[in-house]
Amino acid sequence: MKLLAISGSLRRGSSNSALLEAAAAVAPQEAEFEFYDIGRLPHFNPDLEMGALPSEPAALRARVGRAAGLVISTPEYAHGLPGSFKNALDWLVGSVEFPNKPVALLWTEGRGEHAQMSLREILRTMSAQLVADASIAVPLYGRASTAEAVLADADARTALTHAMSAFISAIGPRSRGEAAVGAVTRNH
Ligand SMILES: Cc1cc2nc3c(=O)[nH]c(=O)nc-3n(C[C@H](O)[C@H](O)[C@H](O)COP(=O)(O)O)c2cc1C
Repeated sequence: MKLLAISGSLRRGSSNSALLEAAAAVAPQEAEFEFYDIGRLPHFNPDLEMGALPSEPAALRARVGRAAGLVISTPEYAHGLPGSFKNALDWLVGSVEFPNKPVALLWTEGRGEHAQMSLREILRTMSAQLVADASIAVPLYGRASTAEAVLADADARTALTHAMSAFISAIGPRSRGEAAVGAVTRNH
């Protein structure tokens, strides 16, 4: 089951990217993670959607289309989303691949509440299906510069393990074309 991980941070030592890598490490075996680098995208411009889509936004949409779900972790910049991450979302607004896509949202406990509220509203507007049980605050207390550091923290590891299991349980029937979409909840 393919999952597309998107970090909202371009930073090399990003704690959000580390969270996603740690989530991939503890996810059930059937989960196959792919990481998307939002830094590859051009600035969104609706004019560019009029003809053939530029190659990188087209590639992003195709990856979203192939993924059974998205796992997202983003920092907060000035009480909002980082511009590069919002840019990636803007490229997906007009796509047919994004609506109804199950999403797991990971964030660092005690940080970025404004960005998270904003992101939830954006995802609701874009008709994503946020999976409540898979969307968690990970207790890191500043020890999160690498996936190894995240996983060395027993509480963080347990929280991520449960969240990823919940995500796979929620989207598994759906990705196999079965009807149990009830497990995927709209919770914004
Ligand atoms: C330009 C800038 C603005 C920031 N603004 C906020 C903010 O408004 N609220 C907040 O909680 N943290 C803010 N931060 C801190 C980052 O969200 C925090 O360091 C986060 O862990 C960075 O994520 P990363 O490690 O994945 O790059 C800001 C950081 C930067 C560089």
